[in-house]
Amino acid sequence: MKCKLPLFFGFMAAILSLPVIAAENVHLSIDASRPGARIDRNLFGQFAENLGHGLYEGIWVGPDSPIPNTRGIRNDVVSALRELKVPNVRWPGGCFADQYHWRKGIGPRDKRPATLNSAWGGVVDTNAFGTDEFMDFLEQIGSHAYVSANVGSGTPQEASEWLEYMTAAQPTALAKERAANGHPDPYPVALLGIGNESWSCGGDMTPDYYVSQLKIYSRFVNNDNPAQHGPDKMLKIAVGPGFPETEWTEAVMKAWQHHDWSWDFDGVSLHWYTTPNGFANKTSSLNFGEGDYAKTLKSTLFMEDFLRKQETVMNKYDPQKKVALVIDEWGAWHAPLPGTNPDFLLQQNSLRDAVLASLNLNIFVRHADRVRGANIAQMINVLQAMILTDKDKMVLTPTYYIFKMYVPFQDAMFLPVMFDADTYTHGGVSLPRVDAIAAKGADGRLLLEITNLDAENPVTIDADMLGITAKSAKAETLTGAAVDSINTFASPNTVVPKSAAVKIQDGKLSLTLEPRSVTVVSIEP
Ligand code: AHR
Repeated sequence: MKCKLPLFFGFMAAILSLPVIAAENVHLSIDASRPGARIDRNLFGQFAENLGHGLYEGIWVGPDSPIPNTRGIRNDVVSALRELKVPNVRWPGGCFADQYHWRKGIGPRDKRPATLNSAWGGVVDTNAFGTDEFMDFLEQIGSHAYVSANVGSGTPQEASEWLEYMTAAQPTALAKERAANGHPDPYPVALLGIGNESWSCGGDMTPDYYVSQLKIYSRFVNNDNPAQHGPDKMLKIAVGPGFPETEWTEAVMKAWQHHDWSWDFDGVSLHWYTTPNGFANKTSSLNFGEGDYAKTLKSTLFMEDFLRKQETVMNKYDPQKKVALVIDEWGAWHAPLPGTNPDFLLQQNSLRDAVLASLNLNIFVRHADRVRGANIAQMINVLQAMILTDKDKMVLTPTYYIFKMYVPFQDAMFLPVMFDADTYTHGGVSLPRVDAIAAKGADGRLLLEITNLDAENPVTIDADMLGITAKSAKAETLTGAAVDSINTFASPNTVVPKSAAVKIQDGKLSLTLEPRSVTVVSIEP
């Protein structure tokens, strides 16, 4: 049999194993002799929109705040994010990006105009967190900028001047203005988004209209720093779809196939949120049971089909996979917490979200030859957040710990892992019982991630490893007492990773996965 994709086995198991018999043991086979694509570190990117308390309070408290901060940026959040080695942060939106005018957010803060954030609740925006504050935040957490240009209500000239302000190395008027604002050196800008959801909040454009805008912005909005004209060049990302239909991707990729020297792009974005009951009837992020858990995970696995569909179109126009697919908004979109501003999109984050995050990251990793970027929505206090804050308090969510456990996968080499996923069924919803990915880490270690989706039953794993002789292994696992276990300000350590027992004997690895758990094993060859 040629097909070695784990999902194939999962699919076969779903078809062939009715009625479902609970597997006590899952056998895995990792092939270290056949490395695949590099798992781009940008798969682990974050998204920080000017929305609710994502930026204001979540990151920015101002230099005069009693909350410990460095130049207005809270220290507790910075030190937590440094641990995640965040590769890039997408900012300022989202829908907000297409109403943002960058000039309002530079210069002395007491002179900046108050504007309305009409994208998110019509609240007053002091513009205190602007371009220089964002770049300072990135320097503090050790990350890179993914800037979203305003295509909806801005102009190519405005966007081009923004890029000049950020990146010009020569002494232009805008570079001097940047220096006067405290930063003589150009800022690195790793990624530039040309619009956001231009088929909806970004201007409700038709595919053809967007393609004309894309060509103009791509031609005239550039990184002016010669140091970013080589291997570190800024990648331009075109708007892609947020729906399974492929008409939009067809239009964008067809245009790309015929592009000339004057314009180009490097990636197409894709947005997909997990909303098992649709946007009109959102799930609760608190106090739910196994039924909701299984339904949500089933819904999140649609990401796989979505990617395949878009990739089929991209392969038609770009068989060499020059253009990356960048899922720059993904995650669980639950109902806002009762009593909070519904436009602020504040939700709790449970063990269910952690399992969901691992399943999505694993899908991206399996598609690493095309998927070279992803940004979870969103970083702090918004949607599936890494961090929740309330005044001076901060708590790290179960999803935060998934990103921390996956750090070794950044820039690792994909390795095939074969297994019979078996089936976990609850309330008529059938899912693969386990999911797994493997990789060769930058330090030469073999990495294995295994998710046990089954909410009630442990799974024993035995794995053989082709192409390496394993000497030792250690494992870390994340689980909780229930599928809806959460970390709170009062009990911040309810869902935190702990070490797990793992055995290497005769070159084979064995361990037991707790129910509803995510485990990363690091194997020393
Ligand atoms: O992440 C919240 C919003 O979801 C973003 O602003 C928008 O791009 C998407 O619809």
